[in-house]
Amino acid sequence: MAVLKIARMGHPVLLERAAEVADPTAPDIARLIRDMAETLEDAGGVGLAAPQVFTSTRLFLYLVPASRADGDEVKLTTVINPVIRPLGDALELGWEGCLSIPGLRAAVPRHKRIQLDYVDATGAAISRTVSGFHARVVQHEFDHLNGVLYPMRMSDFRYFGFDEEVARYSRALPEPETTAPEARL
Ligand code: NI
Repeated sequence: MAVLKIARMGHPVLLERAAEVADPTAPDIARLIRDMAETLEDAGGVGLAAPQVFTSTRLFLYLVPASRADGDEVKLTTVINPVIRPLGDALELGWEGCLSIPGLRAAVPRHKRIQLDYVDATGAAISRTVSGFHARVVQHEFDHLNGVLYPMRMSDFRYFGFDEEVARYSRALPEPETTAPEARL
């Protein structure tokens, strides 16, 4: 196990399209998942994608803590070779941070509900519908696999700031957002 270095915005690895995982049960993938879990816990985040630890492969880890769950709490989950599909047209604005963009956060529009299909670390195919903050985390991490960082999804740069200032002057977001500024994805 090891705590890995996290790539910061500006490093080209964060702008690449990551490659499919050929064998989700391979020993090197198992080791990567263990190291990413340790790195995520050390950083205190709720999501981490493989490109953020300089491995351009289609895999991410995430969790939804009870404090952020507008639906169910989600334990640490490993997602390999995901496909996502929006369910309906509804978008919502919510605050996001990113371990690759430390100290900053922004209001980012995301689909409210999505279909998520992926393979887990045992090679099993999983299909589920997720919504709210859970869907936000999944969309943020999925974007990392395609070289997309949250500023590239922003619609209004007035809602982009340093963590401390955003917390100090917490502003209501335009409709229909509801999420509080907490999570680091
Ligand atoms: Ni991120």
